[in-house]
Amino acid sequence: MAEFTLPKNSRMTEGKTWPKPASAQRVTTFRVYRWNPDDGKNPSIDTYYVDRDDCGPMVLDALLWIKNKVDPTLTLRRSCREGICGSCSMNINGANTLACTMGIDECSDGKLVKIYPLPHMPVVKDLVPDLTTFYTQHASIEPYLKTVTPSPEKEWRQSPEDRQKLDGLYECILCACCTTSCPSYWWNGDRYLGPAALLQAYRWLIDSRDEDTGERLDRLEDPFRLYRCHTIMNCANVCPKHLNPAKAIAEIKKMMVTRQL
Ligand code: SF4
Ligand code: SF4
Ligand code: FES
Repeated sequence: MAEFTLPKNSRMTEGKTWPKPASAQRVTTFRVYRWNPDDGKNPSIDTYYVDRDDCGPMVLDALLWIKNKVDPTLTLRRSCREGICGSCSMNINGANTLACTMGIDECSDGKLVKIYPLPHMPVVKDLVPDLTTFYTQHASIEPYLKTVTPSPEKEWRQSPEDRQKLDGLYECILCACCTTSCPSYWWNGDRYLGPAALLQAYRWLIDSRDEDTGERLDRLEDPFRLYRCHTIMNCANVCPKHLNPAKAIAEIKKMMVTRQL
């Protein structure tokens, strides 16, 4: 299981055990990482008991049940609750995934669910990681159409075949599950772009309408930005959208080689 970046000079402690819901028939235990930068305490693991007959089937349902009915201070990100916005990514029973699309019974035997923030990221509070570097790296690959020829009157056109090349890439929701599960990123996250940013880089490299391919490759040609991927495949294994960043990275490496031939 991945490790977590604990706040400086701190250690993990046992937290509060909240009361069991009275008269609940079906209960799942949730052990949840808590850390508040403002109270000066060490991070801790709180224990909550969720009444499954009063709560939806997904892990996000349970976290919101806890927040609404037990402990309003529990802090997490979420928006769409249907796997589109990418904001509820967290580490659930040892794997990075989206809380809104992960069923409680799917990730556990229905008895115990352990939840931490995405690993190896600084934590803002509780389950909210600081994704500033992740977003800066995404911005660095210039994720938008770049052209030199004058804009057409109506739109940049693309054949159905060329459009199809973007399948398996454009669906990325930037949840960071892949990047924060990548050992190469844990060790070199300040210099290696990581699987999410590189998948996005490839998405623009193979867009038939883009006219910045050479410069895009030049910007990736660096011992760290691209070449730290060692094909460990954690990224493809965890992606909740079933994308394959490792394959995209391999395709970029191929483009690097073929352009030199
Ligand atoms: S395949 Fe590459 S990007 Fe994916 S987890 Fe492994 S090292 Fe990281
Ligand atoms: S490739 Fe998958 S895991 Fe990585 S950021 Fe995109 S959607 Fe999330
Ligand atoms: S809440 Fe949007 S992806 Fe989970």
